[in-house]
Amino acid sequence: MIVFENVTVAYDRGAPALHSLDFEIKDGAAVGIIGANGAGKTTLFKALTGLLPFEGRITVNSVEVAKKNLPGIRKMLGYVMQNSDNQMFMPKVSDDMIFGPVNYGMSREEAGKRADEVLGKLNISYLRDRYNHKISGGEKRLAAIATVLAMEPEILLFDEPSSALDPKNRRMLINILNSLGETKLIASHDLDLVLDTCREVMLLNEGRLCAFGSAKEILTDKALLEANGLELPLRYQN
Ligand SMILES: Nc1ncnc2c1ncn2[C@@H]1O[C@H](COP(=O)(O)OP(=O)(O)OP(=O)(O)O)[C@@H](O)[C@H]1O
Ligand SMILES: [Mg+2]
Repeated sequence: MIVFENVTVAYDRGAPALHSLDFEIKDGAAVGIIGANGAGKTTLFKALTGLLPFEGRITVNSVEVAKKNLPGIRKMLGYVMQNSDNQMFMPKVSDDMIFGPVNYGMSREEAGKRADEVLGKLNISYLRDRYNHKISGGEKRLAAIATVLAMEPEILLFDEPSSALDPKNRRMLINILNSLGETKLIASHDLDLVLDTCREVMLLNEGRLCAFGSAKEILTDKALLEANGLELPLRYQN
């Protein structure tokens, strides 16, 4: 379970990017995080993973997000970042995929096997021995997703997972997301993807939590979405 209690994040001395957020996410939940550009979605993930200082209290499975607990917290959380360049830092895709599991004590052979399985599931086995700086944007996105899945974390955080993906790979990603029983938080502007993968939605506007409830209800509420700088999912337009 993830719990935010009165969480505020301020960058520099500007207006807070998150204002007194309070919410709970139960084990096994799939929650879409939506909001216009700058609403605070990425900031929420960064606070949760201990990458940013915050006021208030965040716990993951009752462990407080605090410096001394970060190794344990990060082991529970798999974070697919909005920008895959920040995530893929080894020369080759397979190096990144093996690095995490080996770091957590798995043999190289076992980690290699797991990497192969995940690459196969995502139909990107051909990327295994490619250099990260010599693959396309969408390929890198898929490789970054594969790297996180290979860690088998208890909780998955996806920041714009479908950006850069072609329609076929986007559909494949939706199927993969739906096949995962882990707790998932998915920040996205792709509201159709959110509808297809999440039962609940959290709506942010200027760092405030404006709605948290049924995905179907929130994502069909034209007035609520428009008041918060969003539009209906494509399937409900016209
Ligand atoms: N490193 C930073 N320093 C200062 N302000 C920042 C920084 N990163 C983000 N912000 C500000 O914090 C607010 C929230 O940004 P955040 O990246 O969380 O938004 P977002 O909802 O993820 O947006 P997007 O949909 O564009 O990814 C914005 O006003 C942004 O300008
Ligand atoms: Mg963002």
